[in-house]
Amino acid sequence: MFGKLFRRNKEQVKLFYNTDVHCHILPGVDHGSQSIEQSLDMLRAEAEMGIKRVILTSHVTAITFENTRETLTDAFLKLKDAVTDEGMDMELFLSAEYRMDEYFDKEYAADHLIPMPGNHILLENSFQQELMNLDELLFDMQVKGYRTILAHPERYPYYSRRHKRYEQLHNAGARFQINILSFTGYFGEEARESALWLVKNGLVDYLGTDMHNVKHAHIIMDYINSKEWKKMSRDLEATVKNDFITD
Ligand SMILES: [Fe+2]
Repeated sequence: MFGKLFRRNKEQVKLFYNTDVHCHILPGVDHGSQSIEQSLDMLRAEAEMGIKRVILTSHVTAITFENTRETLTDAFLKLKDAVTDEGMDMELFLSAEYRMDEYFDKEYAADHLIPMPGNHILLENSFQQELMNLDELLFDMQVKGYRTILAHPERYPYYSRRHKRYEQLHNAGARFQINILSFTGYFGEEARESALWLVKNGLVDYLGTDMHNVKHAHIIMDYINSKEWKKMSRDLEATVKNDFITD
């Protein structure tokens, strides 16, 4: 409530990049947006932060969200129409956030993945343990021409206690996408500390909102008005890719 009032009186600080590579704005396909109206509210918040291109990365996970190209494309076309009707200046791209599980194995083997422009794929680990053959999978995907991005590495507790592993994975060609929400402490102190460590060590390739609802957007909007963000942005600008299509 206070955040909202505060924001109205203050000009919203813009992000220093213009593409959000991770969000759950596509309506009705996971536990993110549940309606076109919610999606439009979230996109308005993105625009307020200076975002001009949004990659829609809905969950693709075994059992809970077994989305396919068809389910995602259907929702994507509806959202695109609504954005056009609203006259909103926002470029949308369809991709997904792939949990590396048995459903992913099937989709990958069948060549059903939906990459972002530039052939990037956003991959999510399990929160309980790292995928056993992660290194092999990353290698295999890169050989096939994919650019692999690990979603929010700061959020996996088993890495927070093993920072060396971040360096190994990054050296193995995984790019890292950090959630701005993690800096706010939204996912706990451990995730925040790991996120700060990744910034300090120059390992942040992409930033994402990972927003599931407009409340997430408001937390991010408040945070990027902070002094901490302003100071950190200078370091981040050196490593965060500005053109995700060619970088
Ligand atoms: Fe996500």
